[in-house]
Amino acid sequence: MKIVVLSGAGMSAESGVPTFRGTDALWNGHRPEDVATPEAFRRDPSNVWEFYRARRRNLLDVRPNAGHLAVAGWQDRHDVVVATQNVDGLHQVAGSRTVHELHGSIWIARCNRCGREREDRVAAPADDALPTCPCGGVERPGVVWFGEVLPEETVRAAEQAVIAADLVLLVGSSNLVYPAASLPLLAISRRIPVVEVNPEETPFSGRVSRHMRAAAGEALPRFEPESWNGPN
Ligand code: OAD
Repeated sequence: MKIVVLSGAGMSAESGVPTFRGTDALWNGHRPEDVATPEAFRRDPSNVWEFYRARRRNLLDVRPNAGHLAVAGWQDRHDVVVATQNVDGLHQVAGSRTVHELHGSIWIARCNRCGREREDRVAAPADDALPTCPCGGVERPGVVWFGEVLPEETVRAAEQAVIAADLVLLVGSSNLVYPAASLPLLAISRRIPVVEVNPEETPFSGRVSRHMRAAAGEALPRFEPESWNGPN
């Protein structure tokens, strides 16, 4: 069976990673335009790195949860593709082999001048110097910011996986941020069943084949893709 898992911040919530919206959320107390836009980086790169270094420090002790592990476990029996809006890398740590990171990775640094990318697993202190590239340019976090275009090849690969899927799971996303939010729509337009896993209603809940109103770490280990036989 071909399964595509579309995941958002709620997928990592039980690992202790804050979501973006709601109480105690990441954007609370931070205006995205101050820390997650190219303009913010031009204006004050140290402030932006401080925000991402704090996120990296929080992620250092974080482990995949039962939801990530369940998705990786399905690979024994199924063809599983993950397309995630998360930048934390937890699907890969859990063992998922095909992960399209739609919003990039917090563990990548990219040169703002020449575009060279490198893995950067360092959670430096907030006041550390700005990381620089051998070309002399300043490096930035390898995530997609507001106002930026998503990596084209990654989006295309995710779309192709959705089109080819027998079943799509939409896990832990408020589905408010486009173009990632268009992937479940693509599935619905192709009459591919979409199962939503989210303890809350989303603007999408009325359109999916089935809504599992539960946390990812509870719902996914219980879910057996091979037993999926339509809405119930
Ligand atoms: P949000 O914070 O908008 O939504 C998180 C969703 O997860 C909500 O619908 C919650 O109800 C749900 N949720 C919470 N705990 C859960 C759990 N244990 N199991 C399952 N679901 C749970 O996060 P995203 O939709 O991922 O973009 O946000 C999308 C994008 O908005 C992010 O990638 C980021 C942000 O601005 C950029 O930075 C470009």
